[in-house]
Amino acid sequence: MKYYINTPIYYVNDKPHIGHAYTTIVADALARFHRLKKEEVFFSVGVDENSQKNIQAMEKAGESDLQTYLDRMAGVWKTVWQEIGISFDDFIRTTDERHVIGVNRFWEAVKKNGDIELRDYESWYCVGCEAFKVESDLVNDRCPLHPNKDIDRLKEKNYFFKLSKYRQPLLKLIDETEFVQPESRRNEIRNYVADHLEDISISREAKSLKVGIPVPEDESQRIYVWFDALLNYLTVVGYGTDEALFKKWWPTDFEPLGKDIIKFHGALFPAMIMSAAQQDPLLQDKNGQPLLVKHVFSHGFFTVNGQKMSKSIGNVVDPVELSQRFGNDALRYFLLREIPFGEDGDFSEKRFEERYQADLGNTLGNLVNRVIAMSKKYFEGKTPNVQLSKPANKIAGGLSELKKMIEQHYAQAHCDQVLETIWSSLFQANKHVEETQPFKLIKTDPEAVAEVLYELLESCRWYAWMIAPIMPETTNKIFTQLGLDAEHELSKGWDQALIWGQLESGSPLGDPQPLFPRKEVS
Ligand code: MSP
Repeated sequence: MKYYINTPIYYVNDKPHIGHAYTTIVADALARFHRLKKEEVFFSVGVDENSQKNIQAMEKAGESDLQTYLDRMAGVWKTVWQEIGISFDDFIRTTDERHVIGVNRFWEAVKKNGDIELRDYESWYCVGCEAFKVESDLVNDRCPLHPNKDIDRLKEKNYFFKLSKYRQPLLKLIDETEFVQPESRRNEIRNYVADHLEDISISREAKSLKVGIPVPEDESQRIYVWFDALLNYLTVVGYGTDEALFKKWWPTDFEPLGKDIIKFHGALFPAMIMSAAQQDPLLQDKNGQPLLVKHVFSHGFFTVNGQKMSKSIGNVVDPVELSQRFGNDALRYFLLREIPFGEDGDFSEKRFEERYQADLGNTLGNLVNRVIAMSKKYFEGKTPNVQLSKPANKIAGGLSELKKMIEQHYAQAHCDQVLETIWSSLFQANKHVEETQPFKLIKTDPEAVAEVLYELLESCRWYAWMIAPIMPETTNKIFTQLGLDAEHELSKGWDQALIWGQLESGSPLGDPQPLFPRKEVS
């Protein structure tokens, strides 16, 4: 089975903050989950370069050579993702030649389908959103999303895409499939498509725009940044340049993205494909139907101490800095745990430190540490020798059920619920240690202790597997401390590994090291 997953491609007007990191980590966790299930995975990330925002940022930085600026910033984004452990398979830039070739091919198909038309146009344009605005979108003559930025009045000749023509097929897609998730966003998109869908300008006059891909056969116009950017999901897997690769991966199976850009992904993009597919067989399934993205998942936003994250407020949080202080897995745990499904989440340093100590140190770290330390002490550095049978304690007995629940949560990208479910089991496991008191029982009933500890050690192996997509470094450490070869263990794959009793009785254990060492709190 194949699994193709994308993140949105980000503007390079600044370096990544925790909001961008959140979306990217969600995608990374899902990519890793599917790899652990032994599916073939392609995970793409990238940058959106043909945007006026980037030029403004370059000018503000006192630079004048666009290519130099873009190269440097693409490097910044790529390096940040590498530093925080994002396992992407490809990184696309919209200035890549492969992208430009694919965009040209796509434009031609839409044009051939009669869906592109040159019209006179006058409207407001918000550079912050990179989108046209109508009077009713504005509050006090400004874009409500970017109230500190001036809004431009544009009067141009533009190419239009006949988006409104696709109202009915879009409604069918939204109503009859699981295309837009969660439900609240599906309703939002549905209302937009039903009541507000209009034809959209998809080019700008080249004289007023310094960046952008030229419109095929009309050098005086540049392709609108969103029409260009959305196509990265096709071009990164070879649309227009590598037919075999494209056929292997397209369409996208899953894409997480913020609620700010759901309209572009939930309405404009599928309509673009519905149009081009009528002329381009590469975009059709075997029944001649358009090959559309299967699921877009719109998540909430991070605020910081209750406020919108913004440069002007000066509260932008750097993911790299957090990862350097607490480690990648702590960053990943916190971000994914803190945005409740379908809602916004809040970041505060205090809360991060609390979760680091309570959830990671005292719950997961403590369980693994004491269970391994006791086994080493009481059973000559080895896992206890036991007669393998079904797990006797309730927590271990419930692990298969837990596995199923987690699979469902991962399938729906409910990463907060994955973690919540695992952590409630970890609490129980710690409670079980306190109730059975192996440290006392060892004096009177070593055989019972052997049973208790074997089950807890094997449970730790299961927990390590279940957190692996979100906390891969911790998983490796737990395997090593359990005396397992991490690479060999992971090569078993999710379903084969999660069968009870694979930790060998009497095998040597590794050294119990604290997984989450205490930190100086600020
Ligand atoms: N370039 C466009 C996307 C084009 S995709 C074809 C864009 N880029 S962006 O740099 O502004 O990134 C927006 C995305 O970053 C959001 O959709 C969301 O995924 C993520 N986030 C930005 N701020 C965020 C928060 N404060 N919280 C959570 N996610 C946030 O839009």
